[in-house]
Amino acid sequence: MELNPFSYEFHADPYPAYRWLREHAPLYRNEKMSFWALSRFADVAAALVDWKTYSSAEGPLLERMDPRMFEVTPMMLFLDPPRHDRLRRLVASAFTPRRMADLEASIRAMAARLLDPLAERGGGDFVHEFSAVLPSEVIFALLGVPEADRRQCREWMDQSLDRDPDTPELPPRALAAMMDLSRYWYELVGELRKHRNEGLVSALFDAEIQTDGGGTTKLSEGELIGLCSVLAGGGNETTTRLLADAVVLFARHPDEYRKVLTDPGRIPAAVEEVLRWASPAQYAARTVMRDVEWYGTRVPKGDRIVLLIGAANRDEREYPDPDRFDVDREIPNPLGFGQGVHFCIGAPLARLESRVALEEFVRRFPRYAVDEAGCRRVHMSNVHGYAAVPFARA
Ligand code: HEM
Repeated sequence: MELNPFSYEFHADPYPAYRWLREHAPLYRNEKMSFWALSRFADVAAALVDWKTYSSAEGPLLERMDPRMFEVTPMMLFLDPPRHDRLRRLVASAFTPRRMADLEASIRAMAARLLDPLAERGGGDFVHEFSAVLPSEVIFALLGVPEADRRQCREWMDQSLDRDPDTPELPPRALAAMMDLSRYWYELVGELRKHRNEGLVSALFDAEIQTDGGGTTKLSEGELIGLCSVLAGGGNETTTRLLADAVVLFARHPDEYRKVLTDPGRIPAAVEEVLRWASPAQYAARTVMRDVEWYGTRVPKGDRIVLLIGAANRDEREYPDPDRFDVDREIPNPLGFGQGVHFCIGAPLARLESRVALEEFVRRFPRYAVDEAGCRRVHMSNVHGYAAVPFARA
């Protein structure tokens, strides 16, 4: 069995491979691509919280990143404490449940604006026309990106994550899109400095950040650019996939859909189950900072290890009958947003958007069918899910 997170067949259905790994190789080694992998729930959860041993300094993707790449534009996802914590603390206040509650009405209005034309036509492509648009509109509005630029930014973000089959190399189109996007953030920060707006970036110009010596300093241009990048990147792709997974899963499981139709109060629990079942963020990669031992094998300091959130989320040791989609399932310790210091800062926003989007969807489409033959998947490194989901009222 070879675990190849870059193979298109693997993207179609990684779960048989995950089951095999949990059973036969709970510590797995891929010599060719030079990484280790953990797949059992308890192991993935333990490693996620141990940032001293499992460092994010070379990034959370399998494609190892040189930390020097982030010297100029540091991003919390690519930093260990204490540098990580300073940046994170600064933006954390933008994602408190209270701030999120203030956003609910505007998210609902956006969702309605996007869903109404689909309802009129009786269906369409759920991803293209709804789930790819809503999260990016929300995060771009939050950051203060002008409306006219948002479509282009979304396209760059999609391209920057696109991968060729069977190789961890970044394709030139992905690199070019990353460069375009970085240039855009640079220009936007400069522009907003001259003409501030209501967005988070403008609010952060005056924010003070603690220095190691105990004083305070303001965010540098590079830090602001890094924040735009990581928030826009984190805020888009995963939520898009979660919503699309929900719509596919509800179509496959009419009994589960009926539960949320008759009682929309169950939508938040259903969102947690979609997150577990479908794992839009499939893994978090780390660099091992000291020799560790798993299942009698030594993993040497400096090696890369992949924490397979997608495999852990289907571990029968944690979840009875794990492949069953069950909106009433108990999920005491969710892994879908990660754990520990890098726990998804956008989780309250993602949960809010998903709840509101699905509330609006069920009102308009109490009966619908998905054309599964017409669905397409994305081919990204750690983001898993649909690029197209054609659906129609039944
Ligand atoms: C369903 C939607 C989402 C999923 C499944 C998801 C998943 C994750 C996961 C697994 C991590 C941890 C990565 C690691 O440990 O290396 C993470 C971190 C992060 N996420 Fe999300 N995310 C989602 C939505 C969002 C949204 C809406 C935003 C932005 C507003 C966001 C921004 C971030 C950021 C900035 C981090 C890094 C936090 C840190 O390093 O301290 N995410 N996310």
